[in-house]
Amino acid sequence: MKVRTTILILTAFTATACAVFIPMRVGPAEDISVEITPERIALGKQLAEGIAACGSCHTTGSFVGDPRGDMYLAGDVITLQLEGTVPVPNITPDLETGIGGWTDGEIIRALTKGVNRDNKQLLPLMPWPEFGAALNKEEIYSIVAYLREVPEPVNNVAGKKDLSMMGKIASSTGMMYNMFAKSSTYTDYQPRRDTPQERGKRLTYIGKCVDCHSYAPKFPFVAFTFGEPLGGGIYMQPPGWPVIMAANLTPDVETGIGGFSDEELYNSIKYGKRLRPLPDTEMVRWPMMARIPNHTALTDEEIADIIAYLRSQEPINHDIDAKEAAKNSK
Ligand code: HEC
Ligand code: HEC
Repeated sequence: MKVRTTILILTAFTATACAVFIPMRVGPAEDISVEITPERIALGKQLAEGIAACGSCHTTGSFVGDPRGDMYLAGDVITLQLEGTVPVPNITPDLETGIGGWTDGEIIRALTKGVNRDNKQLLPLMPWPEFGAALNKEEIYSIVAYLREVPEPVNNVAGKKDLSMMGKIASSTGMMYNMFAKSSTYTDYQPRRDTPQERGKRLTYIGKCVDCHSYAPKFPFVAFTFGEPLGGGIYMQPPGWPVIMAANLTPDVETGIGGFSDEELYNSIKYGKRLRPLPDTEMVRWPMMARIPNHTALTDEEIADIIAYLRSQEPINHDIDAKEAAKNSK
């Protein structure tokens, strides 16, 4: 057995064992009142509506590319072939069904430590490992200010959780993150932002690009820890849908982004134009499409930084289109 496979299996077993035997140990929420200022609302808006892309999952209908304008952040249900049914909660300020009744500390704890109001583990499908590690305190406070002030309250319950074994393992991987990643989360730390590559690296992390686009086919939720970074190939499949695999974003000329100009990459990231058009569509499909409204809100500098970072990676030869076609013709 390959070393990597062994490590993955051991991780899954340990994670499951932890889920069963070790109760969740994230402490109580911080007693804090976040001051709401126009600057914070503006920064929170830039993050939430841009790279952190809350609406791409939390807005009703968005995950399948059909977002409802009147249900911004009001919750959705994602059903996946492997993981089961995962409700994406209502995070509007509605008191009864949203997070209007949560304290600031509880929202901060959810965003940085990945537990809900009752201190129950949130799946790392919610990008809390990324937010906790890559956003600093001021940015987290700004997202809280935005959530309090900007979205309209909507009364809506997203649905019930019904996870498969795979979903439960993924959930316990979330606890692993908590055990090992705690030290790096939620600080005054200012990441180095001197070069486009450094800024781009941080953006691809907050934007979860690294998670979705990294190759570890059987363990999607740990892809960015154990996978081939940005080599593409993971997929989340709603029942009845064809397999749609995340693209290879490494600089490989034949199978990645290496053969394309900055302008082509810009149009792909910002507007969702596929680099290699398919017979039936020129646009990226689900679930990439859900993020395109957020990418359209990115500044030109942010997109240039993301491109610079992608270009600085090790090329991986991994033909995603061929792999996807083979999987779908079975
Ligand atoms: C890739 C999809 C995705 C993105 C992007 C995302 N979330 Fe989530 N979020 C989820 C899912 C799925 C859950 C529920 C996880 C679970 O129940 O295990 C969740 C849960 C939450 C919760 C806990 C709510 C509750 O009732 O328990 C909060 C708060 C939250 N998200 C806020 C945010 C904010 C703010 C942003 C943007 C800055 C964001 N999320 C971006 C998928 C996402
Ligand atoms: C929820 C998972 C997910 C996230 C998060 C995600 N992607 Fe994607 N991305 C995909 C999938 C799936 C495709 C393939 C779509 C298709 O083939 O039509 C894709 C396609 C793309 C493409 C088109 C490539 C081509 O060959 O045409 C680019 C460029 C891209 N993503 C960049 C990004 C960047 C940059 C980020 C982060 C800012 C990101 N993606 C975040 C899943 C994701």
